[in-house]
Amino acid sequence: MGKSATAARLPRSKGTDMATVYEAKDCMRKVKYLVLPERNRRIVEEFMTILDMKEEFDRHGVPIPNKVVMYGPPGTGKTLTAFHVAASLGIPLIVVRLDSLIHSHLGETGSNIRKIFDYAKAVPCVLFLDEFDAVARTRESGDEVKEMARAVNTLLQCLDEFGDGSIFMAATNLETELDPAIWRRFDTRMTYRLPDEKERRDYIRLLIGDFGCEEEAQAEACRLLGGCSFADIEQIVLKAKRKAIIDRKPLGRAHIGLSYEEYAPAPAVSKERA
Ligand SMILES: Nc1ncnc2c1ncn2[C@@H]1O[C@H](COP(=O)(O)OP(=O)(O)OP(=O)(O)O)[C@@H](O)[C@H]1O
Ligand SMILES: [Mg+2]
Repeated sequence: MGKSATAARLPRSKGTDMATVYEAKDCMRKVKYLVLPERNRRIVEEFMTILDMKEEFDRHGVPIPNKVVMYGPPGTGKTLTAFHVAASLGIPLIVVRLDSLIHSHLGETGSNIRKIFDYAKAVPCVLFLDEFDAVARTRESGDEVKEMARAVNTLLQCLDEFGDGSIFMAATNLETELDPAIWRRFDTRMTYRLPDEKERRDYIRLLIGDFGCEEEAQAEACRLLGGCSFADIEQIVLKAKRKAIIDRKPLGRAHIGLSYEEYAPAPAVSKERA
C-alpha cells in the first residue's frame, strides 16, 4: 500500500509546498453539481468503469487510461471535473501550484516537475495541473525557450514513466499552445464549452433549488444568461438570491436582471451576446 497523501511529504519550492492536497471527502464536498455535455459525461463514466475493471484490462493486456487533458473557456467545469474524478475514485486530489513549480533558475522547473510526479507515483491520487499551457508550451515559441524546452522534455519523460497507480489530469484554456508531443501523451481528451440552452436551464434549476421563485424568473434567467459560463451563471444566481432575501420576496425577474447588470460578465461574453 502507498502512503497516504497527507502523510507523505509534499515537495517544496521557493519555501512553499508545490501542491495542495484535497482528501476525497473534501473533493466530494466541492462538487455539488456537475453539468457536463453528454459526450464528456460518457467519457468520464467510461473512464471510471475502466478503472473499476482494472484486473480484467490487465488480463487482456489492454492498458488502462490515466492521462486526461481538458480544454476550453474559463468557468466551464474543468477543475470541477478533476474534483469529481478524485471524489468518485475515493482518492486525494493533488492540485499543483504552478507559480511554485515554474522557476527562473536554470533546470529548476524540470527538477520540480520530476519531484511532483515522483510524489504522485508514491501515493495513489489524481495529480492535477491547471493552466497546463504554462509548462507545456510548444518548444518553438516564447522567451526563455531553452529552459522551457528542457521542462517540456522532463514533462514528456514523466508522462511516459507515469504508472497506472495514479491519474494525471491537466487543464488549459489555450490548447493551441500545447506542444504536439505532449498532446499525444494523453489517452483521454475532453473539450469544454459554454453551456447550451438545455445545460443552462438545468444548471439554473439546480442553483435555484427549493428557493422560492416567481414562475417566469427561471425562464428569464435562462434567456438573459445566454453566452455566460457556468461560473458566471452561478455568481449571478447567487447575487439574485441575496437580493431576494434582502427584499424578503421570492426570487423574481427583477432580481435576476439587476444581478446580471451589476455582475457585468466578462467583455467576451457581452460581445458574444451582441
Ligand atoms: N459544468 C459545470 N457544472 C456545474 N458547475 C460548474 C460547471 N462549470 C463551472 N461550474 C461552477 O463554476 C465554478 C468554477 O468552475 P471551474 O473551476 O471548474 O472552471 P474551469 O473550467 O476550471 O475554469 P478555468 O479555465 O478558469 O480554470 C465551479 O466551482 C462551479 O461552481
Ligand atoms: Mg480551472
